[in-house]
Amino acid sequence: MSGSSKSILVFLGSTRDGRQGLRLARMFMSHLSEHGLVPTLIDPLEINAPLLTNPIHFMPDQSAAPEWLKKLDQQIKEAVGFVFVCPEYNATVAPALTNLIDYFPPASYRHKPASIATYSMGTMGGCRARVALLPVLGEVGMFALPTSLMIPTIQNAEIADDGATTNERVISKVTQICKEMDWYVGALQSQKAATTGYPN
Ligand SMILES: Cc1cc2nc3c(=O)[nH]c(=O)nc-3n(C[C@H](O)[C@H](O)[C@H](O)COP(=O)(O)O)c2cc1C
Repeated sequence: MSGSSKSILVFLGSTRDGRQGLRLARMFMSHLSEHGLVPTLIDPLEINAPLLTNPIHFMPDQSAAPEWLKKLDQQIKEAVGFVFVCPEYNATVAPALTNLIDYFPPASYRHKPASIATYSMGTMGGCRARVALLPVLGEVGMFALPTSLMIPTIQNAEIADDGATTNERVISKVTQICKEMDWYVGALQSQKAATTGYPN
């Protein structure tokens, strides 16, 4: 974890035409900023990573890695926390998200908090995607924060394209997640400053 950084990466899980998730990711971006955090959207559609053939930590010469891969690895290393905005696809995590996560080593993610927001067009709010994402994040060394946001029938959630919403339940959960993230980031930074032996 780097110094007093407030960088939070907001990973979006969908690349689909007409995707619903971008509005929710934008909502997190503005709420995280309002809470004094510095969010960056990690959009798999923009990054357009190929299906994984060579994770960065498996490359004998990482300096020869593609620029996008080196840049995102650096962003992950510098981030102090993550928000995952993930749709449920066939009862699990959207593959664009795990494809991106898998490119990077635990050393880049380790000991950092992660919040999960899932959604679906059905009634279950992507709860199975949440359950499936938890061990993935744990495996690469993140720890999931307790507050979860699950949005059923996302198409009716009244979130505008820019992320603005009047949906009280969603606002309340996003606010709670941002406060929680800010608290945990601060707690880790204080502990890191006050002690030696940070477990790399
Ligand atoms: C390939 C695929 C599989 C899906 N599987 C599920 C599912 O298992 N459970 C569910 O509630 N919704 C499922 N859905 C509906 C999605 O949750 C819904 O379309 C959501 O809007 C997808 O997110 P996106 O619009 O950001 O891509 C599926 C959609 C797709 C495209």
